[in-house]
Amino acid sequence: MEILLESLYFAVPLYIANSFATLTLTIPYIKNWDTPIDLGKSFKGKRILGNGKTFRGLLFGTLFAVLSGIFQYYLSGRINFTYLDYKDKQLSFFILSSFLLGFGALIGDMVKSFFKRRIDIKRGQPWPPFDQLDFLTGGILLYSLYTIPNFKIVLILYIVTPVGHLVSNIVAYYLKLKDVWW
Ligand code: CTP
Ligand code: MG
Repeated sequence: MEILLESLYFAVPLYIANSFATLTLTIPYIKNWDTPIDLGKSFKGKRILGNGKTFRGLLFGTLFAVLSGIFQYYLSGRINFTYLDYKDKQLSFFILSSFLLGFGALIGDMVKSFFKRRIDIKRGQPWPPFDQLDFLTGGILLYSLYTIPNFKIVLILYIVTPVGHLVSNIVAYYLKLKDVWW
């Protein structure tokens, strides 16, 4: 149980990045900035990434991920971890870690969209299990360049993240943030 909670705690910036990329759709003014990262360009007749990947999502997703990392820094001194060695870490560690987890998550999501467009799956159409695991993989990979994460924690995240992703998509659908429940 404890390892599950610590795994989720570790992944907070990664989850924040991914969900805030979508949540920015609801913020007045910001939601109107929908320049796609591929600038609307195509590659061999198909969109490079598609309209679902915007600079707004990338910027604010990463920003909120780093804010959550700063928040974790202030909390971590008060929590007794068993698996995470967060106790004596500096603010700079949390800023860099959360940036790598969050930015990596959104890059992973973009890489997924790139391949999705190549095989002609339209923006917003499901492509399991890649839609569920792209951001986890991207975040973990980029973070690993800095610190190798605990293997058990990574394993647990690969099990719980697809479940959490499905639940949050159903919530986003009922909040009318998404047109489809997956
Ligand atoms: N989003 C964004 N910028 C990003 C990622 C997501 O603006 N970098 C927003 C888009 O409005 C997107 C929504 O969050 O439609 C949901 O994200 P996601 O499911 O990743 O995108 P899809 O629209 O499903 O596109 P794709 O098929 O390319 O995954
Ligand atoms: Mg999608």
